[in-house]
Amino acid sequence: MAIRFEQVNFTYGAGTTLSQDVLHDINVNMPTGEITAIIGQTGSGKSTLIQHINGLLKPTTGQVLIDDFKLTSGTKEKQLIQLRQKVGIVFQFPENQLFANTVIEDVMYGPLNFGMTKAAAKIAAEQALTRIGVSENLWSKSPFDLSGGQMRRVAMAGTLASDPSVIVLDEPAAGLDPRGQAELLALVLELKKMGKTVVFISHQMEHVVTVADQVIVMHEGRIVAQEAPKVLFNRDLSWFQDLMLDLPKAGQFAEKMKAAGLILPRRPLNLQDLASLINKGAQHE
Ligand SMILES: Nc1ncnc2c1ncn2[C@@H]1O[C@H](COP(=O)(O)OP(=O)(O)OP(=O)(O)O)[C@@H](O)[C@H]1O
Ligand SMILES: [Mg+2]
Repeated sequence: MAIRFEQVNFTYGAGTTLSQDVLHDINVNMPTGEITAIIGQTGSGKSTLIQHINGLLKPTTGQVLIDDFKLTSGTKEKQLIQLRQKVGIVFQFPENQLFANTVIEDVMYGPLNFGMTKAAAKIAAEQALTRIGVSENLWSKSPFDLSGGQMRRVAMAGTLASDPSVIVLDEPAAGLDPRGQAELLALVLELKKMGKTVVFISHQMEHVVTVADQVIVMHEGRIVAQEAPKVLFNRDLSWFQDLMLDLPKAGQFAEKMKAAGLILPRRPLNLQDLASLINKGAQHE
């Protein structure tokens, strides 16, 4: 399902004395079946932007097209049910949203809410848990007795169980240990293999280069870039410095090599890329 933002502006508390303009003239698209990463400094508007994809927030002006659904300031709550079935959002620290007595009941909540029978919801929940890699011996446990990484998987299964075509993840790897982060990235790739359109917010450039097909960069509520990682991370260093964004580690290393007089033909995306560029022959100035 393709997503397109057209001239979207968003103001929190529009019309009140405390109003705050947060999104400015957003024109951006997130292609079907691809993984889009959204990066940008804290407060740049990433979470505000993604909440427009399932209508939790509506544009103050402009529109968001999610396939054939048009979201504008005038869209009624009743119409949003249809959209929410198509777009699942997993918020930051989703484990905080777990609430049921057992894992399986928690994951069944979404499908039940969208009108499935109990039997169908159970099947959908079991399939989602299996897909996400939550082992069966945990299904009847309390979600609160699980590890942080397991809880996050359960929360993701809860979103997946309703079979949305779009899955939006707000900083899905935040607070996980390195292994948990690697597993999470594998899950994001798995969602893509399942044919889902994936949008995820991240502060970790390593994650962005590992899984993203395209990257959207936000700065002070505006889009300042939308392109493939290999194009983006080959921009001038000063561009990143101005936006206070990091390069992936391999890129940082290449910049250090450059400062020491050893130049690579282009900036590497990851360690493997770095090794092969060195292998091809770095040039001394
Ligand atoms: N509910 C709200 N009411 C009013 N202002 C808000 C609200 N939520 C966010 N803001 C403001 O909107 C701006 C963008 O916030 P947002 O949460 O979208 O940023 P972000 O890019 O997701 O940041 P982070 O990386 O820290 O999560 C900030 O200035 C923030 O203070
Ligand atoms: Mg945020």
